[in-house]
Amino acid sequence: MSYKPEYPNLCNFLHVGKCTLRNRMASAPMGFPDLTEDGCLTDGAIAFYEERAKGGAAIVTVSEACVDYTHGKSHGRLINLTNPGVLANLTNCARAIKRHGALANIELNHAGMLSEFDVVAEERKGVEEVHYGPVDCVVNNTQVKGMTKEIIDQTVALWAKGAALCKRAGFDMVMIHAGHGWLIHQFLSPLTNKRTDEYGGSFENRARLALEIIDAIRREVGPGFPIEVRFSAMETAEGGIKLEDAVEFAKLIQDKVDILHVSAGGEPDFGITHPPMFAEPGCNVKYAAEIKKHVHIPVATVGALNEPELMEEIIASGKADIVCMARALLADPELPKKVEQNRTDEILRCIRCFVCHAERMLTQTRVCALNPVIGREYEAKFIPKAAKSKKVLIAGGGPGGLQCALTAAQRGHDVTLCEKSDILGGSLKCETNVPFKAAFSKYVKTMSRRLELAGVKVCMNTEVTPEFVREFEPDALIVAVGADPLVLPLPGMDSEKVVFGTELEYKEDRIGKTVAVLGGGMVGCESGLYLAEKGHDVTIVEMLDVLAPDANPRHRPILMKLLEKSVAIKTGLKASAVTEEGLVCIDKDGKEVLIRADTVLAASGMKSRTELADSLRGTAPEVRVIGDCVQPGIIRNATFNGYHAALDL
Ligand SMILES: Cc1cc2nc3c(=O)[nH]c(=O)nc-3n(C[C@H](O)[C@H](O)[C@H](O)COP(=O)(O)O)c2cc1C
Repeated sequence: MSYKPEYPNLCNFLHVGKCTLRNRMASAPMGFPDLTEDGCLTDGAIAFYEERAKGGAAIVTVSEACVDYTHGKSHGRLINLTNPGVLANLTNCARAIKRHGALANIELNHAGMLSEFDVVAEERKGVEEVHYGPVDCVVNNTQVKGMTKEIIDQTVALWAKGAALCKRAGFDMVMIHAGHGWLIHQFLSPLTNKRTDEYGGSFENRARLALEIIDAIRREVGPGFPIEVRFSAMETAEGGIKLEDAVEFAKLIQDKVDILHVSAGGEPDFGITHPPMFAEPGCNVKYAAEIKKHVHIPVATVGALNEPELMEEIIASGKADIVCMARALLADPELPKKVEQNRTDEILRCIRCFVCHAERMLTQTRVCALNPVIGREYEAKFIPKAAKSKKVLIAGGGPGGLQCALTAAQRGHDVTLCEKSDILGGSLKCETNVPFKAAFSKYVKTMSRRLELAGVKVCMNTEVTPEFVREFEPDALIVAVGADPLVLPLPGMDSEKVVFGTELEYKEDRIGKTVAVLGGGMVGCESGLYLAEKGHDVTIVEMLDVLAPDANPRHRPILMKLLEKSVAIKTGLKASAVTEEGLVCIDKDGKEVLIRADTVLAASGMKSRTELADSLRGTAPEVRVIGDCVQPGIIRNATFNGYHAALDL
C-alpha cells in the first residue's frame, strides 16, 4: 500500500533561507547542566541532542550558548562561546545532529541583569564581578550596572562572534534568545528598560539592541543562513510587554531574520512559558497566530504541544508554520518520526509534571518521569541485547511493571506480565476522570500498545501467588505489586461517607456536595482541586503546616495558586474521627474542630504491599522488587526502577 501521511501538513517540508526543514516539528531549546566547568558539551549532552535528531525533529536546537561567559551566564553551567576550546565539541555536536538529517540550531543568550558570576572558574580569577542590565538596579541583592554605549557595543560584538563560532562549528542556523526575561527581553520590556537614551523610551529605542545584535550576526553569518529569533509575546506583570508590542517587534525584524519563534512570559512567568498540566494543550498558540497575521516569514509556536491532531490543525489553519516541542520530546524523542510513520498510537505524551525542570534545579540532572533513558542517552547506546533470552514474569501492571516489561522484551527476553485487576496502570487508574491528568491515561494506553508490539504477553485478572510462580517456572520474577491506601485508625473510617483517593475513578457518584479531603499531600491537593473544579465545596485538611511538600518545586507553586482560588485550606489539624457531620479534628491547642462534609476523601498516603512482595521472594532464581511495593513514590521512580531492573536481566 502506498504511503499516505495522516498528518500531511505537519509532515510537509519547508524551505528557510538556504535550509530545508524535513517536517514542521522542531526540538525547542532545553538546557541541562551536563557540561564541563569551562562550558564544553559532554558526551552525554551531545548524545541527548543526537537522540532528538534521530527521533525525526526537523530542527534540533542546542541550548543555551552563552555569548559572554563572564557577565552573561543565566545558570551555573552553559556552553561557553567565549572559550575557544569549545569549538571541537560544538562541531561534534552539530555533526551528531546533522548526520540524522536534522538541522543543527543553537540558542545564543546573555542573561543581562539576571546573570550569575562564576567565581570558581580558574580563568575568572582577578576579573571584577559585574552584572550588566539596561539600567543601574539591584536584583536579588546584587548590584547591576546599566550598560554604557561602550559595553553595549562590546556585547553586540560578542553575540556576533559567538554566532560566527557556531557557524564555523557546522551549525546550520542560530537562534537569538530575545525572550523569557534575559538581556534582550530586559531591553524590550518597559518594566526593566528605564533608559533615557536611544536604547530606552519608545518601542523603536527599546528594540534597538535586538536590531543591532541581529544586524551584527547577519554580517558574520551572511545571507541565507537562517536566524531564528525567540521572543516573548507577552508578560503578565502590569506595564510589561503586550501582544501589540510583540506584533510591532515581529514586523520590525521580519526582513532581517528567517524564523520568528513566539514564546510567552517574562522572568517571573514560569507557568506561562512552561504551561503546567492544568493548562490547555497549545495554550500559547494564540500569540503566534496573531503575529502570523502581520508578517511574511515563518512563525514558530511553542508550549504544551504534543498531540499530532492539534499540531496538524495549527499548521493547516495557518496559525503557525512550525511547532516546537521541549518536554514532549523528553517523554518521546521519536514523536516526529512516529507522526511521519503513522505510528501515533506509540507516542508517549508528556504529562507536564515538571520533574524534568525540578530535577535540573534540585540535582542538576536530566530526567523525565516517563522516559528513563533521559539523562542516560550516551550509555543507552551501548546497552546490549540479552546474551540469553530469559523467561521473565512480571507481577503487576503499574508504571514500574509496564516499563520493566517493555525494556526486558526489547532486550530479547520472553516476558509475561500479570495484572490482578482488569485494568493496567496501577495507582494511575484513579486519575482516569481527572481532566488535567488525561495524559496519564494516555500513557497507560500507549504502554499497552508498546508492550503488544514488543511481544509481551499480558494476562489480566491474574494474581501472581507463590504457587503461580512455582508452576510458571520463570528465570526471573519482577515484583511490582504496588501499594494500598493507608487507612488511618480513626472511628468512622469504615463509614459510607469515606471514599479513598484511589477509588475516585469508580466511586465519584458517591461524593456529596461538601468534601473534606483528609490529607494535604500532592494526591489530596490534586484530588481536591479536581473536585472543586467540578463544583464541590472542598476543604483540604492537613496535619502539617504546609500542603503538598511531596510535590516538586516547579509543580507545587502552580498547584498552590490554583488551590488558593478554589478550596478552603486547613493546616495544623489532626483528624480524629469521621462522623455523620463530617471530619472531626483536633487543632494545635487540643481543641476539637468540625469540618462539615458530606464526604471525606481519604488521601493520607500509601502503604507498600510489603507482605505480598515478601511472599514472592525466593520463588524464582532471580527476584527483583520494584516500585511502590518498595516505597510509594512518583511515576518517575517506578519507570526508572522498572527500566533498570530490566537492564539487569
Ligand atoms: C528542562 C527544560 C529546560 C529548558 N531550558 C531552556 C533553555 O535553556 N532555553 C530556552 O529558551 N528555553 C528553555 N526551556 C523552555 C522550552 O524551550 C519551552 O519553551 C517550554 O518548555 C515550553 O515548551 P513545552 O511545553 O514543549 O515544554 C526549557 C524547558 C525545560 C522543560
